[in-house]
Amino acid sequence: MAQGALPGFRDFYPEQFAERAHVTNVWRDVARRFAFAEYDGPPLEPLELYTKKSGDEIVGQLYNFTDKGGRDIALRPEMTPTLARMAAAKAAALRKPIRWFSMPQLFRYERQQRGRLREHFQLNVDIIGEADVTADAELLAVAIEVMRGCGLSAHDVRARVSDRRLLHAILAELGVVEERHPTVFGVVDKIHRQPRDVSREKLTAAGMRDDAIDDFMGLTKEATLDQLDQRFGGAAAVKASIDEMRRYFACLEGLGVLEWVTIDLSIVRGLAYYTGIVFELFDAKGELRAICGGGRYDTLLASLGGVDLPALGFGMGDVVLTELLRERGLLPSAAPHPQVWVAAEAPSQQSDVRRAATALRRIGVSVEYALRDQPLMKQVRSAKAAGAEWVLTLHLPGRPEAPPEPHSWKPDAPPDWNRAITEIGL
Ligand code: HAM
Repeated sequence: MAQGALPGFRDFYPEQFAERAHVTNVWRDVARRFAFAEYDGPPLEPLELYTKKSGDEIVGQLYNFTDKGGRDIALRPEMTPTLARMAAAKAAALRKPIRWFSMPQLFRYERQQRGRLREHFQLNVDIIGEADVTADAELLAVAIEVMRGCGLSAHDVRARVSDRRLLHAILAELGVVEERHPTVFGVVDKIHRQPRDVSREKLTAAGMRDDAIDDFMGLTKEATLDQLDQRFGGAAAVKASIDEMRRYFACLEGLGVLEWVTIDLSIVRGLAYYTGIVFELFDAKGELRAICGGGRYDTLLASLGGVDLPALGFGMGDVVLTELLRERGLLPSAAPHPQVWVAAEAPSQQSDVRRAATALRRIGVSVEYALRDQPLMKQVRSAKAAGAEWVLTLHLPGRPEAPPEPHSWKPDAPPDWNRAITEIGL
């Protein structure tokens, strides 16, 4: 019996592949316009690469096994550790800042839910070697320009930004000791996905007082920089973070993306290695999972590769983005089809059909023809069924009713196509 793909894995028939290619073409085009260079790494990595720094959530989702040499191996669930390893290994020789992008297929044994599969393709864009917020702004602009490149607007997608340093500083002001911050971050990460009471209980367990919880939960709903400044600006660490944020927003304005961006202190990111500004992109209606997520991870290269370089980046999956584009009617409607179908009046012209197809293909035209002998009418029907835009018909000379030209086009073809056919004597 024919079997389907594994749960959470996709078959890409040509129609679906055309959608995937559409998305990856936009990814590559935007990355090129921002002058990022493409790289790739191996799909299998030592298990340890992820158990060290990625955090419990992703480690719990690893596809891992022991290979025939007894090594513990994982299919890559994310690209960042591979990038950190690769960049650290050649750091001295590379021009800084490093601006690299990649589009790996990633594997996570996720709980099945809308927008989350067990494999996905993910655009990764990273900058290594620049500590200033100018780089954070440049990075977010790439993610937003991808949205624009897909035909989406600031009404369709919101970029939600926060800063882990700001959150640390606010928690310190609210009397939460540093050892408890990771627990609080874990609660904040899920604050919109779990009941308020559950979040409150967990924050109490993390040692937060009731009034501090109220204060804090209010901030994770909505907050402007001015409000944060008024409430916590007296604390030097909060003030420093707010000033950085203001510079970040000024850069975003210059990059023409400010209208897409909102401050949202509930964005902390699930992965453990982030250290500074973090962000996620969501559909504006808030119906889908995150389209994209990323931020600064200034200590990861030192811990994975022994090279102390600041770094930042994001990952954008194809699953939610494709779903959103389909909803908005922004995906190509069909698999690619030939531009030209070459047909012939008689079976004796088969070699001319192949010569004509070759001449056109060599000037870049996409061409198909019947691989077995067929009456002309059937060839024309096949051309239509294949969605060919033009039909080139080779006529059989010498018959009394033969047309004056040895070939004809329907509709009229561009002159250079016609020239290519005339040049080979047809
Ligand atoms: P992440 O938040 O785990 O970050 O994933 C980034 C994006 O990948 C998500 O927002 C989502 O679009 C997509 N994604 C993740 N898991 C799945 C899944 N199971 N099915 C479908 N799509 C998924 C990272 O992976 C970081 N390494 C990103 C990064 C790059 N940070 C710095 N540089």
